[in-house]
Amino acid sequence: MDILGISAFYHDSAACLVRDGEIIAAAQEERFTRRKHDANFPTRAAEYCLQQGGINASQLADVGFYDKPLMKFERLLETYLAYAPVGLRLYLKAMPLWLKEKLWIPDIIKKELGYEGQVLFTEHHESHAASAFYPSPFDEAAVLTMDGVGEWATSSYGVGRGHRLELLGELHFPHSLGLLYSGFAYYTGFRINSGEYKVMGLAPYGEPRYVDLILKELIDLKPDGSLALNMRYFNYCQGLTMTNSRFNELFGGAPRKPEAPLTQREMDLARSIQDVTEEAMLRMARHVQTITGQKKLCLAGGVALNCVGNGRILREGIFENVWIQPAAGDAGGALGVALAIWHNYLDNERSTKDRVTEDSATHCRADQMKGSLLGPEYSEDEIKTFLDVRNIPYKQLTREETPHVVAQILADENVVGWFQGRMEFGPRALGARSIIGDARSERMQSVMNLKIKYRESFRPFAPSILRERLGDYFELDGDSPYMLLVAPVREEVRRALSADDEQLSGLAKLSVPRSLIPAVTHVDYSARVQTVCPQDNPIYYQLIKAFDELTGCPVIINTSFNVRGEPIVCTPEDAYRCFMRTELDYLVMENFLLDKHAQPATMDEGGLAN
Ligand SMILES: [Fe+2]
Repeated sequence: MDILGISAFYHDSAACLVRDGEIIAAAQEERFTRRKHDANFPTRAAEYCLQQGGINASQLADVGFYDKPLMKFERLLETYLAYAPVGLRLYLKAMPLWLKEKLWIPDIIKKELGYEGQVLFTEHHESHAASAFYPSPFDEAAVLTMDGVGEWATSSYGVGRGHRLELLGELHFPHSLGLLYSGFAYYTGFRINSGEYKVMGLAPYGEPRYVDLILKELIDLKPDGSLALNMRYFNYCQGLTMTNSRFNELFGGAPRKPEAPLTQREMDLARSIQDVTEEAMLRMARHVQTITGQKKLCLAGGVALNCVGNGRILREGIFENVWIQPAAGDAGGALGVALAIWHNYLDNERSTKDRVTEDSATHCRADQMKGSLLGPEYSEDEIKTFLDVRNIPYKQLTREETPHVVAQILADENVVGWFQGRMEFGPRALGARSIIGDARSERMQSVMNLKIKYRESFRPFAPSILRERLGDYFELDGDSPYMLLVAPVREEVRRALSADDEQLSGLAKLSVPRSLIPAVTHVDYSARVQTVCPQDNPIYYQLIKAFDELTGCPVIINTSFNVRGEPIVCTPEDAYRCFMRTELDYLVMENFLLDKHAQPATMDEGGLAN
């Protein structure tokens, strides 16, 4: 029985195909349309899912939509009426899309897919909760969801047991941890819905000097983690901005313009809101543990992409184990609704096939996400044809050679575009569409930020490490397959700083190597770790293993294969275009090795125009 899940019309539209409870395919629309965070109906992603499943839309048993548009519309109307007439501009801006599309979702689904059957809806946080629990490795667990807002809920918690998932409590709009964080992303000059990640990365450069002010003026944070925002300082209910002039007065000035330089003030604001968010997340987690008595926790919702907060929940020992849905944002809702229909609505048991106990050699525990490698893949033949038709020079390696050749290339301080197997579902690259480099290199962070990603120099990079070597480098006990847990670098791996280095503040901290793996060690000695297991992504595991054999270091840099402002690459053509546009030294697609020096000088991206 095939069920297609859809999330759309807010941000990060996506589709997911579930067959008899197994996740067959999932992808975000942006990867196909090349429009970052594309919120349109995910026609291309749905097409891909059906194709991967070898079916057409008429063979679908059900289609599910990840939230309830009428409830959302009701929230919009009620909020408008509560603030009228001042909310008129927001109301008028939102209305055409609602009248044209959002209220007619079953019709749109039927038309776009050519589908005649029934369309089912789950509530937004039910979708997040289902995406958190059902694919997890746990038979029984507490579930916590946190985001900006769904219909009314901004956070929810509950318990999953077997194939049953029950939500026990909710926090409601406008009181929202996600919207509070987005308010600070907006105020510090980043885009909401995507810039939150940058705020988190900026936080370690700052001091928490605004924490008391935030807790005194902006939010009433209760011991159970619930919160009430002081709406006098926010504008999102009635206006087109997140914060208002009172907020500006409170923090001493207008919001930073997006391309204006970052100052210590933005860093201190970032640190302060990050600290407050972590405190709220910890309180919520403790409350949920107390109420449910569960030992394990599943997380989803946009706030669960705050991997620093996730890492704290794990380290505080509130739960024995924490699992986070890799597509924690709204894209994951497509997966959540499909699984909720299969298990909660159609009453089907969960498969125990993959939920095995820990592998003794690698310490890996499997979940049902298949490493989140759920997107399109391209065969050797397809890649060869692509290269040959365009006369692109390459060297073809054997499968055995590839990890060893690439390991040597990395050890020689080259930066490599790495394109293997099925594309990742969710915002992080996990070794299928990644840019990789040597984590031991002192110059790699600035080379990769400025010459390849064309982005802010403060942005940290993340390490991929062999799962069995995790304890040698990081203070983390457990899997982190989706790069959603931040952990401290072990003392033994850190480097002592000179007295002068200790005094540095703000971005000057960047220039000091802090560990044996400086390229992935943030200024507060933290790292956003990805543990790599052989069963999820064999070739990526073999590559890091070969790098370890060559250098004695089982850690490499892993960042997403894209440049600033673009979605992660999907096809060989996207990958080649990105390779030629940036200062990437090599591109490896399956077993084809492309050397930048061997590429014809005239073949810039225009070479792909024909
Ligand atoms: Fe959400």
